[in-house]
Amino acid sequence: MVRIYLGIGSNLKNRRENIRKALALLKDNKIRLRKLSRIIETDPVGGPKQGKFLNAVLEADTNLRPRKLLDTLKNIEKQLGRKKTVRFGPRTIDLDILLYDRAIINSKELIVPHPRMNERDFVLRPLREIAPNIVIPNNKMKTVKKISRIQEIAGDLKKRGKTIGFVPTMGYLHEGHLALMRQAKKDCDVSIISIFVNPTQFGPHEDFKKYPRDLKRDEKLARLAGVDVIFYPSVKEMYPEQYLTYVNVEEITKGLCGASRLGHFKGVATIVSKLFNIVQPDIAYFGQKDAQQVKVIQQMTRDLNIPVKIKMMPIVRETDGLAMSSRNKYLSPQERDDAAVLSESLRKARQMIESGVSSSPAIIAHIKDLIKTKKNAKIDYVACVDFNTLKPVNKIHKNTLIALAVWVGKTRLIDNIIVK
Ligand code: PAJ
Repeated sequence: MVRIYLGIGSNLKNRRENIRKALALLKDNKIRLRKLSRIIETDPVGGPKQGKFLNAVLEADTNLRPRKLLDTLKNIEKQLGRKKTVRFGPRTIDLDILLYDRAIINSKELIVPHPRMNERDFVLRPLREIAPNIVIPNNKMKTVKKISRIQEIAGDLKKRGKTIGFVPTMGYLHEGHLALMRQAKKDCDVSIISIFVNPTQFGPHEDFKKYPRDLKRDEKLARLAGVDVIFYPSVKEMYPEQYLTYVNVEEITKGLCGASRLGHFKGVATIVSKLFNIVQPDIAYFGQKDAQQVKVIQQMTRDLNIPVKIKMMPIVRETDGLAMSSRNKYLSPQERDDAAVLSESLRKARQMIESGVSSSPAIIAHIKDLIKTKKNAKIDYVACVDFNTLKPVNKIHKNTLIALAVWVGKTRLIDNIIVK
């Protein structure tokens, strides 16, 4: 069974009766109705002078393939006496496929998601009513490579009073990234993401060269997450010859990942401040997965007066608890199994804290012991710090960040929890 959303409308004869009949015929044709929005009266859009429409959106399940579904809808329209007239003309019944599962279809007969649904209030309003969390895949997503072009787009959006939600990434997208993108689309008028494997945040012996890259795959996933624009610059575009300026956030970059990845946060702060200047977002989204990174970006925007709100989103995990990461791709099957120990040890730590243990050394020791049971795993650090200052704490309290970095084979993985 596939979840579908259909638009239904009528502006001829007994409009309510036409809709009722169409719903009955859908049922006869293996389209199982789940939800129907309120029926609203709307002015006709385009076409000749004509009466007002009644419109609704319905959610249904079906086994019909898209092409078969389209034929079925056309047949129902015919049965209810729809005549072929002019484009956007009056009709006894109009049935449109708005969404077919998460499919993107661009054939001669059928375009899904419905190409004009984003501009039609009489579709969006009832759709939001029955499916408030739905993400509408974006048929019109753009990929932009030049800074000058993305600046034009952002400038134009600002002039029109549109809000911009921004998600910076290094690509090879997974559900962790996509959750940020869906949130951006929910909160803001337009979502922009960047895909840029930033050389300045990798150390000389790190994985910059082999970091996974696949733009085609990323474009497909971003489109499904409703992204409007992908900014995909080259290294030369971001760091042309004679590039000399870096942003360095002090103090909070010294511990945790900053201690084992020298210069990493200087690269992160530099690229993110450049991206903020280029994209001019209202809200930017970051994952708790990189908790220290969130702190660094918050500090930087505050210190440099960059007018952007930073939103931190929860860690998205695989079913066994492993935090999603583009780097999980490097793991062999055995390493992938062993990697579950990271989140498992944090889960155990949370249980200990809930049962009354509050000594950081005790918690850290327990986590380390668990990790050491996996022979592929080598601990970089396990730490309990205050999530505001990132300074180590002896006693666990509210807002303590318990963070760890572990090498599993040749792959460095990180994970954390924040004590509530
Ligand atoms: P990247 O590792 O691609 O991550 C992009 C964003 O996705 C970051 O905010 C990260 O915290 C978030 N993220 C990654 N895995 C996640 C998960 N499992 N759950 C929730 N969020 C997750 O972080 C970077 O890129 C770079 O340092 C960047 C900020 C783009 C600067 O180059």
